[in-house]
Amino acid sequence: MERVEASADADLALQARNITRRYGAVVALADASLSLRRGEVMGLVGDNGAGKSTLLKVLSGAVVPDTGTIEVDGQPVSFRKPSDALSAGIETVYQDLALVDTMSAVQNVYLGREVLSKNAVLRFLDVVNDRAMRSEARKVLQELQVGIQSVNVSVKGMSGGQRQCLAIARALLWGRRIVILDEPTAALGVRESQQVLDLIKRLRDHGVSVILVSHNMQQLVTVADRFTVMRLGRSIATRNVADVTPETIVGLITGAIPAEVETPEDTAPVVH
Ligand SMILES: Nc1ncnc2c1ncn2[C@@H]1O[C@H](COP(=O)(O)OP(=O)(O)OP(=O)(O)O)[C@@H](O)[C@H]1O
Ligand SMILES: [Mg+2]
Repeated sequence: MERVEASADADLALQARNITRRYGAVVALADASLSLRRGEVMGLVGDNGAGKSTLLKVLSGAVVPDTGTIEVDGQPVSFRKPSDALSAGIETVYQDLALVDTMSAVQNVYLGREVLSKNAVLRFLDVVNDRAMRSEARKVLQELQVGIQSVNVSVKGMSGGQRQCLAIARALLWGRRIVILDEPTAALGVRESQQVLDLIKRLRDHGVSVILVSHNMQQLVTVADRFTVMRLGRSIATRNVADVTPETIVGLITGAIPAEVETPEDTAPVVH
């Protein structure tokens, strides 16, 4: 796969505009907007309860918004369920990973989407497909340099970092164009976090667009190209990482640095 550079044009993989979602009296999202360029890592930051996870759930079809629009590759989409987002090329990795302990790495990669032969009577085809699955999984894991000794190894013995990497690699194997990660390093140590961050960079090098929620500003500035700040359900600022310091990001999150409430146009990339 070739390297795709993040460009400054308005070539958007995804755009969400004016997303609102209430839970009774709680306004989880109030006119939140987010744009994602092709082949960029977009950070999504904000204090606890700011609405980050809810916005990710809207983008992954797990939560249906009250109002708002989403476009993928410039085309309007309507996600009513997670499979709608998957079909649109959006893969989401939640913190509590849906990996099955008793299954092998390759089985987990293909979980629920096994390469099944149409004619189940022809058992030998299953064997062939199993082999195809293993070799394909091995290829992707090698390409992404995911440090797993064997694709046949059970997930049970894997570290948190390896699990996270496996779940992320699954996205690439399935040809997803957009990967959404909700605090992927929250439960990981320093070395494992670094592995995951490196993997995110390699995904981007493969032209995948990534939305990354993180509370770790140091990590964010090393991996993200841009970031959007959320406060009380609103997207209040979008900046290039190169233009700010981690302290500025924290200031925007806490409100110490004022940011005007954005219009959807503000979250679109600036055309130079
Ligand atoms: N299913 C739900 N039912 C009721 N309230 C909810 C639900 N999901 C989210 N909320 C509320 O919506 C607001 C936004 O929550 P959300 O989980 O999106 O925040 P967050 O930015 O991801 O926070 P954190 O950084 O702590 O993960 C919070 O006030 C939360 O309590
Ligand atoms: Mg959250």
